[in-house]
Amino acid sequence: MRYLKLLKTYKKQICFTILMIILICILSYFIYHNFSKSNVSCILNREYDNYKTKIVVDFNNDHTLSIEEVFETGDNAILKTKRIEATLLEYDFSVLKNKIIVKHKIQYSKKTKNLVREYVESGYSCTNEKTINKQIKYQLDNYATYQEVGTPYEEVEIKAYSDEKDLRENVLIDNNSFDPNIVGKYVVTYRLSISDVRDEYLYRVIDVEDTTAPILKLKGPKEITLKKGETYKDAGVEVSDNYDKEIKEKIKTKGKVDTSKLGEYEIVYEVTDSSGNIASVSKKVKVTSKGGIIPQIKEEDGITYVDGTLVVNKKYSIPKDYTPGLKDTTYDAFTKLKQEAKKKGYTIQILSGYRNYADQEKLYNDYVKKYGKEKADTFSAEPGHSEHQTGLALDVGKLDTSFGNTPAGKWLAANAYKYGFIIRYPEGKEKITGYQYEPWHIRYLGKDLAQKVYKSGLTLEEYFGIDS
Ligand code: DAL
Ligand code: ZN
Repeated sequence: MRYLKLLKTYKKQICFTILMIILICILSYFIYHNFSKSNVSCILNREYDNYKTKIVVDFNNDHTLSIEEVFETGDNAILKTKRIEATLLEYDFSVLKNKIIVKHKIQYSKKTKNLVREYVESGYSCTNEKTINKQIKYQLDNYATYQEVGTPYEEVEIKAYSDEKDLRENVLIDNNSFDPNIVGKYVVTYRLSISDVRDEYLYRVIDVEDTTAPILKLKGPKEITLKKGETYKDAGVEVSDNYDKEIKEKIKTKGKVDTSKLGEYEIVYEVTDSSGNIASVSKKVKVTSKGGIIPQIKEEDGITYVDGTLVVNKKYSIPKDYTPGLKDTTYDAFTKLKQEAKKKGYTIQILSGYRNYADQEKLYNDYVKKYGKEKADTFSAEPGHSEHQTGLALDVGKLDTSFGNTPAGKWLAANAYKYGFIIRYPEGKEKITGYQYEPWHIRYLGKDLAQKVYKSGLTLEEYFGIDS
């Protein structure tokens, strides 16, 4: 009774209070929908059995996203709104038709009945055009643009009008985060503010990319030729990049030079900048013999050919059954040499020409018996290792080292190449050839090669860069 009386007395006040509460609620709802969510950009709707949720993603200009989950009933009444504590794992913008797809991965946990569940969401999109009401159109044509790092910001055309009234003056552009000198994806915000209508936002993604490859230049020449045994010094490369400052450390070098082995080597320098642009440059290093060549060594039926020239020495042998006899080319060339010598007043005779395996075997064994193996090896070849078995070598003049000091021996040494021969075991090169000085032993190489070897002052082994 007392309450009823009280109710009657304060009827007006109570009604007013209830009315005020209702009014505040309506106002709050209005404010919430028109202002607090004004910078919503992308929405992902998901439906559940008896309610649906809206995940609302806001762009922040520091490249982060804010996420809010709104729970709604089937008729769009809001059940509750929850700020989600989410971690942005990664994100990327791409463009599809008239939408910006925000591909991102966020991770957040939700507590349901004391159970913490982990969620990873991805794939929001936002449109580049909005029909705010029937009259107001708001549209951004170029809503995803690309530009090379270092080029200045450029504005794009925006459409904002209401019944032919230009509303572009009402658009506030926020490009404060944009930095044309730093690679990245930026969001430029276009806020359309019209009184009585809530602010509307459009977004433009600017992709600042670095598509320019670094500049890589060889410091030295593109091709270097070294003689076997010389030291190789890598002159390196110069590098610069339009974007990366610390680019020098990123240079990778492939390939090595082994100056103890004849051959052609390639050194490749490669550098990849932080945006994945690759530049590469290469150089060739030739390691040649002292004769300046990289010969091809081939073995055929037990015979070794270096650049097509048959080679026999302590390392390379010929088979027992290789019995060509004295070759005509050798004999003919020597005949010319002999005739020319004769004209100069020198008589140069063949003392020993072709020897087969058995001949060489006997000769060598006799020397071993007489002088011992060590001594014999300095002037006689083991069977299978004598040039006399090739039909390309001759002993001429006199079998005595003093022959080299005679006018005939001197003439022979200076002129043999003209007929295609070389003094095969020269003085001072004993360690290289493995044999003592033999001014009488000439080897037919053909005029061309003989001249090259003679002029080089090298032994055949040195000229070719082969072992002896
Ligand atoms: N005198 C040379 C090295 C030979 O026996 O073939
Ligand atoms: Zn000989």
